[in-house]
Amino acid sequence: MNASIERVFSDFTIRGAGLTDLPALRRLEHICFGDDAWPMWDLVGVLVLPNLVRLKSVADGRMVGFVGGDPHPAEGVGWIATIGVLPEYRRRGMAVELLAACEELMGLPVVRLSVRRSNEGALRLYRREGYRMVDSWTGYYHDGEDALVLEKNR
Ligand SMILES: CC(C)(COP(=O)(O)OP(=O)(O)OC[C@H]1O[C@@H](n2cnc3c(N)ncnc32)[C@H](O)[C@@H]1OP(=O)(O)O)[C@@H](O)C(=O)NCCC(=O)NCCS
Repeated sequence: MNASIERVFSDFTIRGAGLTDLPALRRLEHICFGDDAWPMWDLVGVLVLPNLVRLKSVADGRMVGFVGGDPHPAEGVGWIATIGVLPEYRRRGMAVELLAACEELMGLPVVRLSVRRSNEGALRLYRREGYRMVDSWTGYYHDGEDALVLEKNR
C-alpha cells in the first residue's frame, strides 16, 4: 500500500517499511514502549499484512521512527496502530510527518488512535495535530491505566 512513498526532509526521510525492517522495528518498539511493546507476531503482521500502512523514518542510515496504520474503509475510519521515534531523534518534527503521511496514505475521512492517559507528550502532539478525545477505555493497558481514544476529521 505504501511501498513507493518517499518524503525527504532536511535531516530524515520517510519511506515504506517491509519485513527486512523487523529487527530494527523490534528494537524501536522495546525502546519506545517497554512493557507495552507489541509481541513479535504483531510486528510481523504490521510489516506484511495487506492493506496496512507501514512507514519508517530513516536518519543516519537507520530506522529511527515508525508508524503503522490500519484502514477500515467500510467504516471510513483509519486507526494509527503504533507510532514511535527513538529518544535521540525526538522533538524535530518526525512524528508529525510520520502521522501526516500515514493519515494521507490511509485516505479516510476519520482517523483514530488510542493513547495512555498519562502520555502527556503524545497527547500534546495529537492535540496540536487536530485530534480530540472521543472516548476512554477503562483499564485498557496491562497495568490498569486507561486509554484515551482520540479522533481527527480530515
Ligand atoms: C510521542 C512521540 C512519537 C513524539 O515523537 P517526536 O518525533 O518527538 O514528535 P515531534 O517532534 O513531531 O513533536 C511535535 C510536537 O508535539 C509535541 N510534543 C511531542 N513530544 C512531546 C513531549 N515529550 N513533551 C511535550 N510536547 C511534545 C510538541 O508540541 C512538539 O513540537 P515542539 O517540539 O516544536 O514543541 C515520541 O515521543 C515517542 O516515540 N514516544 C514513545 C512512544 C509513544 O508514546 N508513542 C505514542 C503512543 S500513542
